[in-house]
Amino acid sequence: MASNRRDFLTSTAVAVSLTGSAGLLKPSIAAAADDTGPPLQNFGSYAAPTDVRVIEIINLRELEGRAQKVIPNGGFGYIVSAAGDEWTKHENEAAYKRVTIVPHYLSGLDSADTTTTLLGNKLSMPIIVSVMGGHGLAHASAEAGSARGAAAAGTLMIAPSQSNVTLEDTMKAGNNPKFFQIYIPQDRGVARDVLLRAKAAGYKAITVTIDATVSSNRETDTRNKFHSPLPNANFPGTAGGYGRSPFKENLGWDDIAFVRETTGMPVFIKGVLSPVLATEAIKHGVAGIQVSNHGGRQLDDMPASFTVLPKIAEAVGGRIPIIVDGGIRRGQDVFKALAMGANVVALGRPVLYALSLGGWMGVQGMLEHLNGELKMTMRLAGVKSIADISKGSLSV
Ligand SMILES: Cc1cc2nc3c(=O)[nH]c(=O)nc-3n(C[C@H](O)[C@H](O)[C@H](O)COP(=O)(O)O)c2cc1C
Repeated sequence: MASNRRDFLTSTAVAVSLTGSAGLLKPSIAAAADDTGPPLQNFGSYAAPTDVRVIEIINLRELEGRAQKVIPNGGFGYIVSAAGDEWTKHENEAAYKRVTIVPHYLSGLDSADTTTTLLGNKLSMPIIVSVMGGHGLAHASAEAGSARGAAAAGTLMIAPSQSNVTLEDTMKAGNNPKFFQIYIPQDRGVARDVLLRAKAAGYKAITVTIDATVSSNRETDTRNKFHSPLPNANFPGTAGGYGRSPFKENLGWDDIAFVRETTGMPVFIKGVLSPVLATEAIKHGVAGIQVSNHGGRQLDDMPASFTVLPKIAEAVGGRIPIIVDGGIRRGQDVFKALAMGANVVALGRPVLYALSLGGWMGVQGMLEHLNGELKMTMRLAGVKSIADISKGSLSV
């Protein structure tokens, strides 16, 4: 386990077997000797982890405890915690366990194809990296490391406006499709500047987060007196927020129209938890929705995203793509989310944990591990392709 960047000076290729069970969960990682990936930033007194290496993964849940040993206390508390009693955070994971999968044997399958598309972008798996501000809290390569890891796994990343490297550097770090997320600032000029930078950099869509118009009660951060000491690289000279312009609190559909008209790009809204809002979103020309409660970090006692997904999917009726996030830790969870109508799932905390342990290689390995579990699930459920995953495989 005690491996570090130096390992790559002595070995030209590495691979790690996860289960030994017929190689079912074996990732395809092969790294060149000197490929430490995007530059490591110096975050001054904040000692962000720097290892870039293949990590051994038994399952995603176990990454949390290992990450806690390498991420500075305040940064780890910020990542792991949620609002209030953290009921919603835990419920996000628990909700998946209340639905079971009905296997279908003797299907003659010897493989499962997890390739799919999102807004026409080809993905190797229906699993993407959700937006998170402050990847630098987990690793010195920050957002660029995660982008590189997602690209190596062949999937998409949603890059944050609250970023520790610039949106341009995140884009350059991997040749995968990426969306750019924005918290709308009060000042439309500030919003326009950053949106047009994202467009020029080659982002494929804009994700507007709609559920963070009020600061939430994240009590771990209060207890730790934690305020990120890292820079917001998209807005030099600021630490968090937008410096010149705070977040807009009175968001409305005019703000969504503003983003669409300013960029001419597809716009997703993130934070949808009701069929009513999903239907309104379609009327307002939104290109896709992300069903999310922000990983339980905003309003505690909101429902798990998986709980509300079926009714939202029914209301959307396939007219626009649905991303769902929150509590996805197993290939079975991915399968269940897709069966209930999501097009892809987005991962939050496990990305930062994997990043902290192995930089971009950690992120690649984690994504491929989860996709390996999905393939295993699909084969035992007798389902060959993503398009074939349906409610028929669930006990509902
Ligand atoms: C450290 C951290 C930072 C986050 N920052 C943002 C953000 O800037 N914008 C946003 O829309 N969501 C943000 N999220 C929420 C994630 O996009 C996602 O909704 C959530 O983490 C998914 O749940 P999971 O962590 O259980 O996978 C953040 C989550 C974490 C853990």
